[in-house]
Amino acid sequence: MASPQIKHGLEIKFGNEYGPEEERAVLDILHKNAPTSGEACIQFEKDFAAYCGTKYARACSNGTAALFLSMVALDIKPGDRVITTPLTWIATAAAPEVLGAEIDFVDVDPVTYNLDPAKLEDAITPDTRAIIPVHLYGQCCDMDAILEIADRRGVAVVEDSCHALGGEYKGRKAGAMGATGCFSFHEQKNISTLGEGGMVVTNDGDLFERVALYRSHCTRVYGRSTKYCSLDEMRFPMGKRFWWQDFDDTGYNFRMTDIQAAVGVEQLKKLDALNARRIENAAYITNGLKGVKGLRTPTVMEDCKHVFHLYPVMLDPDSLGINKEDFVYRMLHEKGVRIGTHYIPLHWTTAFRNRGYEPGQFPVADSVGERLVTLPINPRQTREALDYLIESIRSL
Ligand SMILES: Cc1ncc(COP(=O)(O)O)c(C=O)c1O
Repeated sequence: MASPQIKHGLEIKFGNEYGPEEERAVLDILHKNAPTSGEACIQFEKDFAAYCGTKYARACSNGTAALFLSMVALDIKPGDRVITTPLTWIATAAAPEVLGAEIDFVDVDPVTYNLDPAKLEDAITPDTRAIIPVHLYGQCCDMDAILEIADRRGVAVVEDSCHALGGEYKGRKAGAMGATGCFSFHEQKNISTLGEGGMVVTNDGDLFERVALYRSHCTRVYGRSTKYCSLDEMRFPMGKRFWWQDFDDTGYNFRMTDIQAAVGVEQLKKLDALNARRIENAAYITNGLKGVKGLRTPTVMEDCKHVFHLYPVMLDPDSLGINKEDFVYRMLHEKGVRIGTHYIPLHWTTAFRNRGYEPGQFPVADSVGERLVTLPINPRQTREALDYLIESIRSL
């Protein structure tokens, strides 16, 4: 017999929804021998930049690479300090850390769970080079406040927009407000490019050139195709009869393949519709959970378009009569519904305890770690699935 979660579609944790359009796109590129970054990547980048309203976009292999390339573009190096939130996937903090920077965590806002601008200024030191706000769960940070502080203190802002593709803050798209914006197309994100993928967007031509160069071994092919180059820039006089390949520096291979990009082009066309369904499903869950004592459903901030990559719920074990561990366990074993625990705060992890952090340092993030769960949400959930989810929680 199908378990309740399979019956009600709640096993689906992926946001991606592929159809005949993606199938055709894959076959089309396959028939072109499935190249690495080529025409399809250029198209995806063009469409993506237009969607976000930025001048430039460069596709890469995943969101981690997008963050890392942004740090490389900013020349983050040993001795630098980078500020971020402890409530994020480890990639956000790992990107600057692996380049030798020290990470300074700043606690989150108790309503949105996003980096709290009120605590930001005190964390900035003369060595602080970048701030990486994370638009957690699909809702943008208070970017006016963050950008004002960052601009005044001369610190770059890199938006981790991996949760918030299509999200907006005061009419501006997530990712389009900072020095760069970073996206992931991992299988669980709001759109996917066959399980992995990433993008960096920016309005800054110099940063774009560095992202583009380091993504692909800092190579330029002079006097010939600029297939692997960021800009149509030929340093050598065009009249030269021969060409050679040079490398500006040692770089990386974080290219996206054309087959992924062709899928990305189709996924991007569906993004707003997929997000609209997430928003509708979130509203339905919020309404269905009204009046349940001990559950705090998400607050959507005025001026924000929250795209509900995840649906966070804060539990109050005292009035709910059940703690987080028991809630997660019983929902799975009694109701067949898998509940998420995004995220275990980074200062609790071995990686950052080994770097001097310890649990208890960031009270709001600590309480999220202890009490927040994420409910299943995706564009394919049926009314029946949503009702089953709501009823399961109510009956617990
Ligand atoms: C907030 C955040 N930042 C960065 C990443 C890294 O993206 P990727 O898995 O594509 O490397 C993720 C992925 O889950 C994420 O959730």
